[in-house]
Amino acid sequence: MNYQELTIRYAHVEEVSALENWQQDLLNRAWQAVDLAYAPYSRFRVGAAVLLDNGAVVLGSNQENASSPAGLCAERTALSVAAMQYPAATIRAVAIRARNDEDPPDSPVAPCGICRQTLLEYELRQNHNIELLLQGAAGPVVIIGSVKDLLPLYFWRQPRRQH
Ligand code: THU
Repeated sequence: MNYQELTIRYAHVEEVSALENWQQDLLNRAWQAVDLAYAPYSRFRVGAAVLLDNGAVVLGSNQENASSPAGLCAERTALSVAAMQYPAATIRAVAIRARNDEDPPDSPVAPCGICRQTLLEYELRQNHNIELLLQGAAGPVVIIGSVKDLLPLYFWRQPRRQH
């Protein structure tokens, strides 16, 4: 048996003030997006802010549905808006925040599996890493340099060329 080991590198930052200004700004924008969540079922509000290479920031929040699989996560909402509004832009970073008033998440919230796969496809398509900034309602920030770090051994099929 030939065992392989995978390690991922990420930054764990205790104080937001230690971050660069653009990172703090993006986390603040994601916090604003939390207020735009529609999450009456889970009461777990998530906000995402996507920073593009043209400087634009696009927001998304989770949008739930009484038929629960129809609900959309904040990340995929924001990514879809970004792809529609700025199809030629490259995504540089995505900040993700969450709020649950009954049980405030003070540890970073990481994207779900489907959002990881979705983020990964944008990263591969644009051939440029996407930095992820994760934070709860407060507390430390986790910074991950590439979506691939969150999805080792990922599934990928080369898409057929669009006509
Ligand atoms: N959710 C997100 O929007 N993003 C995540 O990364 C994790 C989960 C949403 C889905 C659902 O509306 C609620 O959080 C609770 O699971």
